[in-house]
Amino acid sequence: MTIAWCKDLETGVPLVDTQHRELIRRVNAYLDAAREGRGGEVLADTFCFLDSYVRSHFADEEALMRRHAYPGLAGHRQAHRALEAKLAEVRERIAGGEPNLLALLETNQLLAGWLTNHILHHDRRFATWLQRAAA
Ligand SMILES: [Fe+2]
Repeated sequence: MTIAWCKDLETGVPLVDTQHRELIRRVNAYLDAAREGRGGEVLADTFCFLDSYVRSHFADEEALMRRHAYPGLAGHRQAHRALEAKLAEVRERIAGGEPNLLALLETNQLLAGWLTNHILHHDRRFATWLQRAAA
C-alpha cells in the first residue's frame, strides 16, 4: 500500500506540488519499509523528517493563502493544526519504546489517509479558488 502520484493530487501550484511529491516520496518509503517488516526501524526517522517538513510546508501554504486573501484560510489552518496534533499524538505514542503492530498500523493509516485526503479536499479547493481568482 503506497500512494501513487496521479493527476487528481496535482494542485497546479508548483511549490505546493513539489512539496507534496516529496512528502509522498518519504511516506511511501516508510510504507514500503513497513510492508517489509522494517516499519519500526524507520518510523523514528520518518517522524523526524515529517516534524519539520510538514510544519514548513503548512507555513508555505498558509503564507500563499494569506498573500492571495483566500477566504478559506481559517478552515484550512484549522485542518493543518488538527493534522499536526494528530502527528504529535502518534509520535508521542511511539516514542520511548519499540512500536507494536497496532501503533504501526495506525501510523500507516494516518500517513496514507491524511496526506491524500488533505490534498484531495483542502488543498485542491484552494488551488481551484486560486485559479479562478487569477482568471
Ligand atoms: Fe494544506
